[in-house]
Amino acid sequence: MPEENEYLFGTHDDELRRLGFQHQVWIREAAAAWHRAGFGAGSHVLDLGCGPGYTTCDLALLVGQGGSVTGVDVSPRFVAHTRAQAAARGLGNVVAHVQDAESLELAAGEFDGVYSRWVLTYLRRPEEAIRGAARALKPGGRMVIHDYSHYEGLQLVPEHPAFRRGIDIVIAQWRESGGDPAVGARLPAMMADAGLEVLSITPVHRVARPGDVLWRWPRTFFDNYLPALVASGAMTEDERLAFDAAWRAAEAHPGGFFATPPMLEVLAIRH
Ligand SMILES: C[S@@+](CC[C@H](N)C(=O)[O-])C[C@H]1O[C@@H](n2cnc3c(N)ncnc32)[C@H](O)[C@@H]1O
Repeated sequence: MPEENEYLFGTHDDELRRLGFQHQVWIREAAAAWHRAGFGAGSHVLDLGCGPGYTTCDLALLVGQGGSVTGVDVSPRFVAHTRAQAAARGLGNVVAHVQDAESLELAAGEFDGVYSRWVLTYLRRPEEAIRGAARALKPGGRMVIHDYSHYEGLQLVPEHPAFRRGIDIVIAQWRESGGDPAVGARLPAMMADAGLEVLSITPVHRVARPGDVLWRWPRTFFDNYLPALVASGAMTEDERLAFDAAWRAAEAHPGGFFATPPMLEVLAIRH
């Protein structure tokens, strides 16, 4: 079982490294979203569910000394990591606080921008997080979110029932913990309910072939998480081995590929 303030996939060292690798793999999409949202020199940005601070520190470089980035996360370990990374990189414009995204304590109208990636999908009440973050925006401020809109739409080719079975177990655990692996599809309505105007809804979907850097991205997740599913009894060791065999078969296949779980970038403005 996760400790207090740990999200579904934990805050242990392997997960910290996995999130760092994941950030490298998805940095282009994040940077494009920040550009579309107009984040730049002098912006004051909230990184909602900042994790270990990988996005926080890159945002801090983008906004420069005249701007600032505030990272909030429910995990004290990740917040400490964010502060340490910012200090190590000489980023004096980063602050990080332990806060629950569902009950944010932020001054109204404080930020020019809000960014959040892969956080709302783990929350029981994501609408509360959106509402709290929307309140913290200045008039004219923009919120841009990246999250899964249809996780089960991921695809390993050639398809294999053992792979699909493993993904079904992951999704069942995710839902049981209170999260929604399709939350992205609900984001535009939540943002509108929070008084924002939705400016764009953009699909984020990629394909990896064996040998691509992106091919290793799902693998790092499976390596971290599937043994925990076996340990908790949610998955049998035979199911895990069959899942791995299906992955290796796709890896060896000349037509093999992995299509990432469909995600949305949703951009909105506060008037
Ligand atoms: C997959 S990580 C993403 C981290 C970061 N946004 C990134 O893209 O690298 C999910 C993050 O959500 C955080 N989280 C989960 N539930 C939360 C909550 N109720 N309030 C704030 N953060 C939460 C976790 O602690 C974790 O850091």
